Amino acid sequence: MNRYWTDLAGELTPYVPGEQPRIADLVKLNTNESPYGPSPLALEAVRAAASEALRLYPDPEAGELRETLAAYHGVDKSQIFVGNGSDEVLAHTFAGLLNHDLPLLFPDITYSFYPVYAKLFGVAHETVALDAAMRIGIADYRRPAGAIILANPNAPTGIVLSLSDIASLIDDHPDIPVVVDEAYVDFGGESALALLAGRPNLLIIRTMSKSRALAGLRVGYAIGDSGLIEALTRVKDSFNSYPLGRPAQAGATASVRDDAFFRAGVEKVVRGRQAMTEGLIALGFEVLPSSANFVFARHTDLSGADWAKALRARAVLVRHFGKPRISDYLRITVGTETEIGRLLDACRDILHNR
Ligand SMILES: Cc1ncc(COP(=O)(O)O)c(C=O)c1O
Repeated sequence: MNRYWTDLAGELTPYVPGEQPRIADLVKLNTNESPYGPSPLALEAVRAAASEALRLYPDPEAGELRETLAAYHGVDKSQIFVGNGSDEVLAHTFAGLLNHDLPLLFPDITYSFYPVYAKLFGVAHETVALDAAMRIGIADYRRPAGAIILANPNAPTGIVLSLSDIASLIDDHPDIPVVVDEAYVDFGGESALALLAGRPNLLIIRTMSKSRALAGLRVGYAIGDSGLIEALTRVKDSFNSYPLGRPAQAGATASVRDDAFFRAGVEKVVRGRQAMTEGLIALGFEVLPSSANFVFARHTDLSGADWAKALRARAVLVRHFGKPRISDYLRITVGTETEIGRLLDACRDILHNR
């Protein structure tokens, strides 16, 4: 039989990341990367780490990075887990913490890796529909569940859930893991960090790919009760002891230490989001209220697929999901002032030439 793969591999529906094409003069607003570079201190640290010492394995515990993150967030080092991008942290979380007899709950519209990991790790799951305004309704989660995972702000809507809603959600489910994926929280959400005390079932997942402009370095982390972190570490050490190389550990540590640079970058993106939102609304788009580094928008004159195609023809890349409920929307990453100008010019051109 000419089959070298397992049935599992054949049955998987992998996550499809936004494309990274090589198009000249491209305005790339499709993967929620930062339009600005990382901290110069992070770059310097990466360069310094690219030395003869690369012949040695990195610290498997990423001790310095975890200590730095713990100090930054005001928690103990035993409450920090780091991984190769938050996708890997999520993968270990699905494998080690979210697999129960009762179903894992997550919104019907959310980060599309959640159903992929659920399938990969055989996690029974149910989706909970967002309301008509694309919001998460906490009351809808009051049902038997083995675990819950939410992104806050949610993706791809950008809509944020209040801290009191997150607190109610956790307090409604004190005996099961509740995971809050805070990939975009720095751009406007309230972190669930304030809720950690007395809630050993809460796990917060963060990434350095967005607000720290380090998507290429692949660093994500989790913050939670040391019991959850220990469980994640056991999963990690059963998979790959060295998920973060020396340059990644050094660069991420330096980024956390450069708070002024980080804050200035976030502020620029938030200002850009405001300008982009106003520009799109002026062109007739409906834009959902975003607390992230992207907006989710639709226009009655063209379908989402047609918008994405017409923008691509003008070298502007945005993300379109051909899925029920959201196929008319575009997810557009906040770019630089110039990129926002190019996006709006392209939209104007498309509307004129319809
Ligand atoms: C909600 C959410 N979580 C996690 C990630 C993964 O980020 P990374 O693996 O780059 O840390 C993303 C990336 O787009 C995301 O949108």
